[in-house]
This record gives sequence, structure tokens and C-alpha cells, in this order.
Amino acid sequence: MNLSATALAHPNIAFIKYWGNRDDALRLPASGSISMNLGSLWTRTTVTFRPSLAADELILGGQPTTGPALERVAAFLDLVRGMAGLDQRAAVVSENNFPMGTGIASSASAFAALALAATRAAGLDLTEAELSRLARRGSGSACRSIPGGFVEWLAGTDDRDSHAISIAPPEHWNLADCIAVVSRAHKAIGSARGNALAHTSPFQAARLADAPRRLDLCRAAILQRDFEALAAVTELDSDMMHAVMMTSTPALFYWQPATLAVMQAVRGLRAAGLPACYTVDAGPNVHVLCEAARAEEIAHHIGSLPGVEEVIRSGVGGAARLV
Ligand code: PMV
Repeated sequence: MNLSATALAHPNIAFIKYWGNRDDALRLPASGSISMNLGSLWTRTTVTFRPSLAADELILGGQPTTGPALERVAAFLDLVRGMAGLDQRAAVVSENNFPMGTGIASSASAFAALALAATRAAGLDLTEAELSRLARRGSGSACRSIPGGFVEWLAGTDDRDSHAISIAPPEHWNLADCIAVVSRAHKAIGSARGNALAHTSPFQAARLADAPRRLDLCRAAILQRDFEALAAVTELDSDMMHAVMMTSTPALFYWQPATLAVMQAVRGLRAAGLPACYTVDAGPNVHVLCEAARAEEIAHHIGSLPGVEEVIRSGVGGAARLV
């Protein structure tokens, strides 16, 4: 039997963010979140279990990789081995078609692709909900890269019911994400560590108390294709998450001057009648959302702002899949 499989998954951009856990070890979130998959961007991962291997191996973007990245992958493979009753080590070969560590959530597509490839290679055939639960254990936001299109992570109450579902397929709404890259530097504190600090901000309790309202507004805006409503709740949610980050102990400041310049320019475009809105993850780059028909114009505009190195564009993407 060939214990090998290859899977592809897209990163996702959250409109309603995940930041803070009820259980750090199981990555059970303190609240639900909503995102869309980014179809032009992907991680492709091949997992091969081999009796001859003494330890798990990782090749990332052509480079043999050890240290924390390999340890995180090996811990995840332990979960898969436990489910499949397998004790062979694996060779993992993974590549992204986008830069890592820049606020484009590479861990989401990475653990979604790894969950699908590793379970298939181990002979398991999981349901979408089971795969999403498993991907969550690698990186919280990875559970949202398993289903397709517009996705909601149901916070749930325990390991079994905390997983993501599709709330609308990719073709439901032709949105685009124009990512203004203002820095390619690796972030100082990654989201896994930052997430564990959320509860130290006095603002986190207020953010969580208001989360059901924002989730309802966002879900309704997507289902009704109401861009104005989506813009209002998406910017509010991003600003609230960054207020928590900036006021945690230690404080996390992910914005740079160019980050704020793009955010202000986007508000200016919207005031001038061009529908666009911003959202920022755990990094300095700005995701500018718009309807696909306006993406060219908007990408051109933000690409000409000082401090913007590049604009990466993507439409809405489908589910994680075998290739
Ligand atoms: O899943 P993680 O640990 O990469 O955390 C993701 C955190 C944010 O990207 C900032 C928000 C989100 O919901 O994607």
C-alpha cells in the first residue's frame, strides 16, 4: 500500500477575527469567526509515511527544515498517527505560492493541507467537520481553510463541536482581496503566542461580549451581498482586535506607519464612493476587500501609496482538496 497523499488548501482572510482561546492546548476559541478563502493563493503538501524513517522530516519551499516548525508538524502528525493506529514517521514536502510570515495566514493553509494529506496518507477518510476539527489543532484559523467559499468557525463547547462550516459557496459573491504588502519581515510574535495573551487585555471581555452581534451582522451582510454592511462590521472587528493586541501584556503592535496610511486611504476611497474596506491580521500588511469588478482600480490606487511594496490580489477560493 502506498502511504502517500498530496493536498492543496487556500489561506483565508477573517472578516470577524479569532483572537483568544478558551483552551490554548485544544485551540478552542473564545468566540466564533467568519472568513473567506483566498483562491489565488495556496499551500500544496505531500505526506508520505515510510517504515524506513527514524523521525519525521519537513521540506518547506525546497528547504529541509528543523526546529520549531518541524516540532509543530511532528506534534500534529502524532495526532494523525493516534487516530489511524500507525507508528511510521513521515516525509512532509510543502510549498506556498505566497510569502510566509507577512499577515497572509500561511499557517491556515499549511495545517489545512497537512490535515487532508496526512489523514489520506494514513488511510483515513474523514468528513469535512472531522477534518476541520483536526486542522484546528494545528492552527486555529486552519479549521476555516477546510470548507469552501465563505466560512464560519462555530466556537462550540469542546473538541468535538468546534469546527468550521461553509455559509456560502465561492460563486455566491464575487469579492476580491487586494493585499497591500508593506513589509516582508517575519513577525516578532506569531499568532499562536499572541493568541494566548488576548485575555491579558482589559478590552478582551468587551470584545467577546459583543462578538455574537458582529457575527450576526457579518453573516447577514454576506448572505445579502451587502457590501456597505460588510465593510462597517469588518473594519470595526479588525480595529477591536488590534485594540486588544495593543493593550495586552506584553503589548503587541503589528501596525507600521504604512499600515495606517493604507487604512486611511481606504476610508477615503469609500467616502469618495468607491466601495472598499480594510482588515489587518497579526502583521503589518493590509487586506483591502472589494467587489471583484473594482479590484483593478483599487489595487492600482493602493499600490501607488508610499510604503506599499506590492499588491497581491485574490478572489474567493474553494475547499481544501486532494490533488
Ligand atoms: O490561527 P492562528 O493562530 O494563525 O490565528 C489567526 C489570527 C488572526 O489571523 C489574527 C485572525 C484570524 O481569525 O484569522
